[in-house]
Amino acid sequence: MPVSGAAHTVQSGVKIVLLGGGGFRTPLTCTALQSIAERVSLSELVLHDVSLERLQRMRLVLDGLADRGEGRLPVRVTTDLDEAVDGADFVWCAIRVGGLEGRLIDEQVPVREGVVGQETTGPGGVCFALRSLPALLEIARVVERRARHAWFINFTNPVGLVVEALQPVLGSRVIGVCDTPSGLCSRVSRLLARPSSELWFDYFGLNHLGWLRAVVDESGDRLPELLADDAAVCQLHEAGLFGVERLRQLGMIPNEYLHYYEHAKSAVDAVRHGRGRADYLLAQQRAFYTAGFATPAEAAAAWRAAWRQRERSYMAEAMARGEAEVEAEVEVEPSPGYAAVAAELLEALARNTHRVLILNTANRGGLACLDAQAIVEVPCVVDGQGAAPVAVGDVPPAAESLMQTIKHVERLTIRAAAESSTAQAVEALAQHPLVASRTLAQRIFDAYRAEHASLRARFGVA
Ligand code: G6P
Ligand code: MN
Repeated sequence: MPVSGAAHTVQSGVKIVLLGGGGFRTPLTCTALQSIAERVSLSELVLHDVSLERLQRMRLVLDGLADRGEGRLPVRVTTDLDEAVDGADFVWCAIRVGGLEGRLIDEQVPVREGVVGQETTGPGGVCFALRSLPALLEIARVVERRARHAWFINFTNPVGLVVEALQPVLGSRVIGVCDTPSGLCSRVSRLLARPSSELWFDYFGLNHLGWLRAVVDESGDRLPELLADDAAVCQLHEAGLFGVERLRQLGMIPNEYLHYYEHAKSAVDAVRHGRGRADYLLAQQRAFYTAGFATPAEAAAAWRAAWRQRERSYMAEAMARGEAEVEAEVEVEPSPGYAAVAAELLEALARNTHRVLILNTANRGGLACLDAQAIVEVPCVVDGQGAAPVAVGDVPPAAESLMQTIKHVERLTIRAAAESSTAQAVEALAQHPLVASRTLAQRIFDAYRAEHASLRARFGVA
């Protein structure tokens, strides 16, 4: 693995590029960057997208938000990738190859076969990666040519797999960000009535496949006491997903995405009787991106409303919560999500401050059960040199074996994409514990190929 060159300490005038800048979450990224802009001497934010229409829509929303006093950054939009990336200090990657239309197929095909249909977990994640990796690798090569020192902060799902695939090109300068670990940690710290900064979160895993094993303060591990406290533990979103008894039996809190393994059948049934996530989002986003707005204020208001709805309905399909139930929920201010984690990461990299964040980076001994290059999601110490994982040590055997299996699936997927190999793609699906059948894997891949023109072009017709 090529290790990145000397640390690039940013002197002045930081340039940041957001790839996929026409995406719906762009205003959240801008808000997160706004909060650190002065401290990191942000001089330019370039929004890049393959769609000028989507960029213009976001620009209108940003103008509307700025008019309401929600801040303004020096933002520029472009569809020219080379020019966007040129000389950047940070590249944030949030592209979605094939749009939500692509995600709909990724999710619906497995459900028809009785298998979990999810953007990252299961066949959906394999397919999303197979479709996206060629474009992502091309982007990485452009970054290598045009911005050799840039930190590449990846949000594109499946985050861990994508970082694993880009690492041979970008070395340790590619870092993956997800907000589910920090989201879980803040829920726990609220229940313990302690600020997160006063606690150590012993979290380990791969992206969307992790566990919170201990929460340590000056008196020791507070997790056992929290899990034993009926009133407190019931308030956790994870108690709803896994059941209190299961959390107690594990002695750990699983990442919410482990629900798709623990309750695969009910996750499939819920979508069969209701509506899948991509299906819901596609309708919502189409309405937002095609609406005619008279003013920036109108665009900003519509964006806010759609965002709230999106956040409130997050994972509703997996928990079989109907739309009426979601609507009836008490309104809470939605969280800024992974952009906030990425902003903390950016600040630590740019200012060489020491900060502990749970990130996706090469293992380097962090998890004893995985090799040094494997991308893992663990607490990392971040400074101007990058993100260094802490040593997690041994983990329970069931977690270890699931991580190893999924890492194997990720690597098979990367190989399948690199070689446009149907055999490898089917192998990746067959090895996945949610599929666990070669016949089924072949059927799922054939359906993906039949429905995704981009896969047909690369892998041929069945
Ligand atoms: C969480 C996950 C992300 C995911 C996001 C949005 O933050 O960690 O990986 O992209 O939710 O999910 P949605 O279903 O709304 O696209
Ligand atoms: Mn995530």
